[in-house]
Amino acid sequence: MKILVTGGAGFIGSAVVRQAVAEGHSVVNLDALTYAACLANVASVADSPLYAFEQADICDRAAVDNILARHRPDAIMHLAAESHVDRSIDGPGAFIQTNITGTYTLLEAARSYWDAEGRPDTFRFHHISTDEVYGSLGADGQFTEDTPYDPRSPYSASKAASDHLVRAWAETYGLPVVLTNCSNNYGPYHFPEKLIPVVILNALHGKPIPVYGKGENVRDWLYVEDHADALLTVLTRGQVGRSYNIGGENEARNIDLVTMICALLDQHRPEAVPHADLITYVTDRPGHDLRYAIDPTRIRTELGWRPSVTLEEGLARTVAWYLDNPDWWQPLLDREGVGARLGKA
Ligand SMILES: NC(=O)c1ccc[n+]([C@@H]2O[C@H](COP(=O)([O-])OP(=O)(O)OC[C@H]3O[C@@H](n4cnc5c(N)ncnc54)[C@H](O)[C@@H]3O)[C@@H](O)[C@H]2O)c1
Repeated sequence: MKILVTGGAGFIGSAVVRQAVAEGHSVVNLDALTYAACLANVASVADSPLYAFEQADICDRAAVDNILARHRPDAIMHLAAESHVDRSIDGPGAFIQTNITGTYTLLEAARSYWDAEGRPDTFRFHHISTDEVYGSLGADGQFTEDTPYDPRSPYSASKAASDHLVRAWAETYGLPVVLTNCSNNYGPYHFPEKLIPVVILNALHGKPIPVYGKGENVRDWLYVEDHADALLTVLTRGQVGRSYNIGGENEARNIDLVTMICALLDQHRPEAVPHADLITYVTDRPGHDLRYAIDPTRIRTELGWRPSVTLEEGLARTVAWYLDNPDWWQPLLDREGVGARLGKA
């Protein structure tokens, strides 16, 4: 297939780009190169004849039309987004613009491109979204694809809005879409403002490791390469018009996750005192969702997909990757807002 990937210079998008090229697909990476982007994430495929890069904003209809007309993809995988909840609290405007207006613009561009191509049944618009659209769970229960939407942060509200637009374009215009909602990703090339890289890098530098509230929030953690694999599975075998929840089957409280990372660093970079001594509880994020958990029954039974990496294994690989790749993360620490406490409202 020829796949147009939006946001392919970001964390998950770049994993999709690398995996799609490895599987023999042609990939066009459309990315605006915001603060969260890093072309080094796709350096391993940059010279491949299967790879092309286009710098463009998904809100720029003329630019998107032009890219679609020139490359004529068989599918669009839409990952471009503003993705950091704390930034959405301080500045929701960029989230409304990219996640809602940008998705609308991309849908309209995709619809007219699909019309111009003779409305092929095989075309796919794959919208990549988050489990955060479902809101917050108590101690029990899991999100299914039928759980009502209940987003509670500007980020999750903007993603929920984009999901609704994608479904509306399928129902109203017949655009062949698939949707996925997945849990928290982690792994190599994770931008150093998100929890796991912050913990690793602060611990390495002997700085306080911030844990929001009491550290009791529970997330389901999905290794990013497993996510990329699930996305390509849904793209190629998912039923048109259907959405699939993707989870890692790895629930953990934040404090337990942080403690596991500290233990790995004690093993690989021992210091006089344990790294866990750096853990510092800080004011909680406003509206911090308590727990997310995914019921993965649909993707498992219909598409035979399951995650392959346990949290223990994935964290060990991730910590090793950050220890081996300071040239990747060092320059990113100077980007605007990185290292600052954001989203206290
Ligand atoms: N990170 C997670 O744990 C997670 C979990 C579930 C779903 N998601 C979703 O997966 C997608 C990718 O997430 P990520 O963590 O890789 O994000 P990211 O912030 O690492 O990357 C986003 C990429 O999109 C690009 N981008 C932003 N605005 C753009 C615009 N207007 N036009 C073109 N490109 C633009 C950025 O330059 C960047 O390369 C997002 O849609 C996110 O909502 C993420």
